Amino acid sequence: MGSGTGAIRLRSLSGASARRTRGRLNVAFLVLISITLPGASTERSAAQSGAAPYEAAEGCGECHAAIHQAWSASPHAQSATNPVYLESLDRAAEVAGGKAAARRACVWCHAPTTLVTNDLDLNQPISQEGITCDFCHTVKDVDLEKDGHPFLLEPGGVKRGPFEYAEPVAHETAFSSLHRYSPLLCASCHEFTNGNGVPILSTYTEWKEGPYPARGVPCQGCHMALVPGRVTAGGTEKEGSARVVNLHRLVGGSSRGQLDTGLDLVLKSVRRSAGRVELTVEVANVAAGHAVPGGLSTKTLVLSAGVESGDETLQHIRSRRYRREIEDADGRVLKTVPDLFLKGASVGLDNRIRPRESRTERFNLPIPAGARAIVVRLEYEDASDPRIAPVVIRITEVREQLDK
Ligand code: HEC
Ligand code: HEC
Ligand code: HEC
Ligand code: HEC
Ligand code: HEC
Repeated sequence: MGSGTGAIRLRSLSGASARRTRGRLNVAFLVLISITLPGASTERSAAQSGAAPYEAAEGCGECHAAIHQAWSASPHAQSATNPVYLESLDRAAEVAGGKAAARRACVWCHAPTTLVTNDLDLNQPISQEGITCDFCHTVKDVDLEKDGHPFLLEPGGVKRGPFEYAEPVAHETAFSSLHRYSPLLCASCHEFTNGNGVPILSTYTEWKEGPYPARGVPCQGCHMALVPGRVTAGGTEKEGSARVVNLHRLVGGSSRGQLDTGLDLVLKSVRRSAGRVELTVEVANVAAGHAVPGGLSTKTLVLSAGVESGDETLQHIRSRRYRREIEDADGRVLKTVPDLFLKGASVGLDNRIRPRESRTERFNLPIPAGARAIVVRLEYEDASDPRIAPVVIRITEVREQLDK
């Protein structure tokens, strides 16, 4: 798989000789970056030469306004500047034994333009844009088996995307099956095995082992749905092109809406006898393309059942927790993001719910006098912010009244 299979049509724009020259320069650049590892000295010298190979998102937004607006609200746009990340980057320096080592380990996915600029201190405005337009749209290919980072990068005037053009547009374009159909563009950062051989991020593998590849549904199929909008603001798009864009907000478990569509909770049966109740509950991963919870092992899906009393508090709560645990060399479960990446030595428990899998759970609860209802809840707990207690999002709740 890759981007090589599509018909590549390069288009130059009117009066764009300057751009084309830059495109040629970038070929030399590409050779440099594709044969060296992150932080290698050749990249540093490229950065020192003052080349600014990536264009700012704001410039793209002058034409692609709707896409720019959606992207600006995405976790991708905040990946290099959000306070949670910056805090954990500081803590990573303690774990990694120095700031430089931490930066090398943590910056290339969160601010991937640094692979070319080597601005590991994130001083340049483009670094602060995190996973920015011009990074994604100039990735030429991805090879997960490659040493170092998995990208073949070609920053420059050619923007790669899902359209095949017969007419020139405002900049050079190339059809890219990597962008249109392949999960590998996303896997480049959402699949990661650390130095101890432990899969810290395995979203792509989970997707590959599930039913969605056979159905032809890559990551984009769910995370970048087509929504009403215009590809370009000024109406410069071709006559008759559809008024839809791929949503660039790319939300995941941090959004209740996305969690809602991904999971199903059904109270299958309620049996009462002698002051107790036996519940059968089914929780199903109906629409996430990978295990739930996904991503880093800082997240837990919590199914709980309890009895609601007259004053509306929940009592006799019983829970099941679905999560993946990564352990250090001594078998201790790791809790913080820097620890996961830098100390992870083996995978312990993994009872997350796989794509299209459902789990049946039984709960046996007492029914005290005055109890009003049985309540079953599904919640999502995210412990990736080291400064605060885990954030809990209520996904859904099912109630069974006990009036009679
Ligand atoms: C291989 C790419 C990659 C590397 C390397 C990487 N991250 Fe991430 N990081 C991600 C992805 C992808 C997510 C979102 C995953 C998810 O949904 O759990 C993420 C999420 C996070 C989060 C939680 C989301 C937030 O609020 O920002 C923190 C904190 C974080 N990373 C810190 C780090 C630190 C510290 C390091 C270095 C030890 C690091 N990352 C290295 C890809 C990476
Ligand atoms: C001067 C206006 C303008 C600017 C600035 C601009 N674009 Fe475009 N872009 C267009 C137009 C027009 C199209 C064609 C849209 C259509 O066919 O609907 C396009 C198409 C695209 C495509 C689709 C290419 C394909 O083959 O699928 C991508 C990707 C893209 N632009 C990315 C970018 C990025 C990234 C930037 C900023 C670095 C940018 N554009 C800046 C006008 C612009
Ligand atoms: C250059 C690396 C990179 C690439 C490429 C990338 N991502 Fe991400 N992604 C990240 C990082 C890092 C985060 C975490 C951002 C944060 O919150 O700090 C993230 C966050 C996300 C989230 C939000 C997770 C949440 O908890 O809400 C989703 C969804 C997502 N990415 C999907 C995708 C998809 C789909 C693609 C492919 C079209 C993709 N990503 C490509 C690095 C990347
Ligand atoms: C994480 C990588 C990523 C980032 C960041 C990103 N895009 Fe995209 N973009 C894609 C992918 C993948 C597609 C194709 C989706 C598909 O065909 O299903 C796409 C499609 C497009 C298209 C074609 C029209 C459309 O709606 O499909 C344009 C234009 C575009 N992006 C511009 C931008 C601009 C401008 C930004 C920044 C404001 C941006 N992109 C940020 C990955 C990205
Ligand atoms: C069939 C639809 C579907 C496909 C395909 C899919 N996802 Fe998701 N994804 C979801 C839903 C629904 C959620 C919210 C539930 C959850 O948090 O797991 C989600 C959540 C996420 C999250 C946040 C995880 C968390 O628990 O916080 C990330 C990151 C993500 N997806 C990345 C990807 C990547 C990368 C791919 C491709 C390898 C992909 N997704 C394929 C539907 C999908």
